[in-house]
Amino acid sequence: MSLSGKHALITGSSRGIGRGIALKLADHGVNVAVHYYQNEAAALDTLAQVRERGADGFVVQADVLDSKQITQMFGKVKAEFGKLDIFVSNARPEAAAFFYPPMDITLEQWNAASDSQAKAFLVAVHEAVPLMAKGGRILAITYAQGSRTGGVQSWVGMGSAKAALESLVRYFAVALAKRGITVNAISPGWTEDSVLNSLPEQVQELIRNWHARGWTPMGRLGTPEDIGNVATLLCSEQAAWITGQVIYADGGASLMNPEVPPEIQLG
Ligand SMILES: NC(=O)c1ccc[n+]([C@@H]2O[C@H](COP(=O)([O-])OP(=O)(O)OC[C@H]3O[C@@H](n4cnc5c(N)ncnc54)[C@H](OP(=O)(O)O)[C@@H]3O)[C@@H](O)[C@H]2O)c1
Repeated sequence: MSLSGKHALITGSSRGIGRGIALKLADHGVNVAVHYYQNEAAALDTLAQVRERGADGFVVQADVLDSKQITQMFGKVKAEFGKLDIFVSNARPEAAAFFYPPMDITLEQWNAASDSQAKAFLVAVHEAVPLMAKGGRILAITYAQGSRTGGVQSWVGMGSAKAALESLVRYFAVALAKRGITVNAISPGWTEDSVLNSLPEQVQELIRNWHARGWTPMGRLGTPEDIGNVATLLCSEQAAWITGQVIYADGGASLMNPEVPPEIQLG
């Protein structure tokens, strides 16, 4: 699998899952545009780690809630790289901007979720495709459990936004098939070194124990490296026949049955 010399833009790659994807691609020789919103120091740190792996890149700032800034971000990518092989839409606003239950959420909070996902993806794909040749790869990072359930009430804005994002992935997959560009979504399960670590310690422990107890059959949470590996596979030439799919990368968590305690299911 050779990705050496390719060029990628990964939104939200200053931290968390986006950084995991950036570093795995860099391990395979991909040059990376490291996007951030407010945390320039974290983005520069990701870039330094990209360079330690023998790849190169630059950092680029943009608010994905603002279409003009998305367009400007691609302007910088064009100026620096001249082309693009891989685009990963991963960024998501901080929870405070959207994490409210259905009867309380304001339109502003709803729009923050919504604009950051399908709308940002629509604008970005329109900008990315003219820079891409046959073999281009477009990935969206979703949370498919949240887009088809209703239990985590305060996820209503982002769950709905992710559902729209997954739908758009399928439409773009068909639209871009003839150009040899694939479009897929990756749905991570709960992942370490990400937004999880911003939650109260007690909540983090509850989630870790729940998954170690069996909710994730593999008995642990995922890592940004796990998701980076899946993204790298989907970016390979060998993945050219996979398009329009939502790929669960969650150690089997999405296979479990919510009506039955994990101990009984695992036998
Ligand atoms: N963490 C999980 O367990 C999990 C599970 C399933 C799916 N996901 C999905 O994976 C993706 C990444 O999640 P994460 O937990 O790794 O993220 P995270 O650690 O919270 O990092 C968020 C990233 O998005 C950037 N960002 C924040 N607000 C932004 C804005 N308005 N415009 C542009 N960029 C902005 C941040 O930039 P700065 O560093 O500059 O602030 C940062 O790079 C999300 O789409 C999320 O829904 C996560």
